[in-house]
This record gives sequence, structure tokens and C-alpha cells, in this order.
Amino acid sequence: MTIKLIKGDALDLIQQFNERPDLIVTDPPYAFGGSGDEHAISATVAVVLREAAQKLAKGRWMLVMCASSWRSTTYMVEAVRGIVDPIRIGTWCKPAVRTKTRTTGWQWTSVNVVAFRKGKAADKEPSLHRDHITALPVINGRRAELPSLVADWMVAPYAVPGGLLLDPFAGSGAIIEAAERAGMNATGFEKKPALVEEVEEQVRANNVSERILPPARRP
Ligand SMILES: C[S@@+](CC[C@H](N)C(=O)[O-])C[C@H]1O[C@@H](n2cnc3c(N)ncnc32)[C@H](O)[C@@H]1O
Repeated sequence: MTIKLIKGDALDLIQQFNERPDLIVTDPPYAFGGSGDEHAISATVAVVLREAAQKLAKGRWMLVMCASSWRSTTYMVEAVRGIVDPIRIGTWCKPAVRTKTRTTGWQWTSVNVVAFRKGKAADKEPSLHRDHITALPVINGRRAELPSLVADWMVAPYAVPGGLLLDPFAGSGAIIEAAERAGMNATGFEKKPALVEEVEEQVRANNVSERILPPARRP
């Protein structure tokens, strides 16, 4: 199996990517998430998702995480309209998290995961799909990482063993590690060099048994 984590801007890297992924799973910076660069980020996410969807093999799936607001979810759906169709939506429920989202005190938030398909299904519909999962995020320093449980929940039902998974916003590499566990080759893009180096350490061997990052702590 080949696991690659490429350092750079997904906007450039997706143009040069000449492969045909069998599955795309990604957790992009959430469009309209309220950060200072929100418009630039939103444009990048839309272009990268659209270009990635163009490259996806026919009959295959693309899963995109979105902020739980329908504004963000609609944005992601519109970004790929006419190329892939939204088929399902799942929810990652995060209890007891520190969040900027207003939850009037109960500190429970969620992330939508839209499953798109490119045309008619190449295989039988995934039967393992569950509509929601409840899991705490993993906090690593100032960063919130995707727990492996949630990455597996997204990847495993749609995996194409021996095929290629693409994650253009790879972050800590949780999704590419899930691809590896599901028997897929994987390519990730990530623009923050420090993060890329940490992830490279983790994925250098195909059998990652130990995390190089400091131990994750719960919120
Ligand atoms: C929501 S995070 C992904 C988190 C990831 N699932 C994890 O578990 O760490 C989005 C990631 O996209 C990266 N990113 C943002 N803009 C990018 C760009 N233009 N090109 C490549 N990576 C980018 C950020 O550095 C961040 O690591």
C-alpha cells in the first residue's frame, strides 16, 4: 500500500493530481466558520472540492465534513453541484466540547457529513452506514483532531480495497490512517509544514502502531 502526504496548498496540488481516486473523504476548513480569512478559505474549499469531485472515479463516493450550520453544509453541496450528488447525511455528535458555537450552556455540538456519489453506484450500497456517531474530539495541544473512531466510521463503509483515497485537507492524517486500516492506498495534502512532518513520521511505515504526536488529551 502507498500512503503519501504531500506538503503544499491544496489549490495548487489538486491541479497537478493526475490520479483517479476511488474515494474522497475530507474534513476541510469549514466554509463560513468565522475565521479572519473566511472568504478566501471558503473559495479555496469550493474550488478544491469541485476539482477533486471531477477526478473521482464514476460510481464512487465523496464524503465531506461540514459545520453543523446549514449555511456551511449548503455551501459544500453547492460547490460540487452537477458533478456528484448528495445521497446521505450523517452527524458526528460531540458532547461536552469547548466550542465557539452558541449552545446556550450545554456544550454539545455536531458536524454534518455529506456522502455524495458520482452517478450510479459502482457497488452495492454500503450497508454498514450509520446515521450518527457520538465521540469526543481528540485535543492535541491547540488542535482538535479527528478521532480514529470517527475516521473509520466515515471511511470503512465506502472503502474500495486496493483503491486510492484522497484527502485534500489532511490535517493530522486521521483519514489517511483510516484508509490504510481499510486496505486502501491514500494521498493527503496539507499546507502546514509542521503538521506534515508530524504526519509523515506517523505514516512512514504502513503499519502505524505508535503515534509520534504527544499523547492526546480529552477536553
Ligand atoms: C479541519 S482541519 C482537518 C483536520 C483533520 N481531520 C485532523 O484530524 O487533523 C483542515 C486542515 O486543512 C488544512 N488546510 C487549510 N487550507 C489548506 C490549503 N489551502 N491547502 C492544504 N491544506 C489546507 C489546515 O491546515 C487543516 O489542517
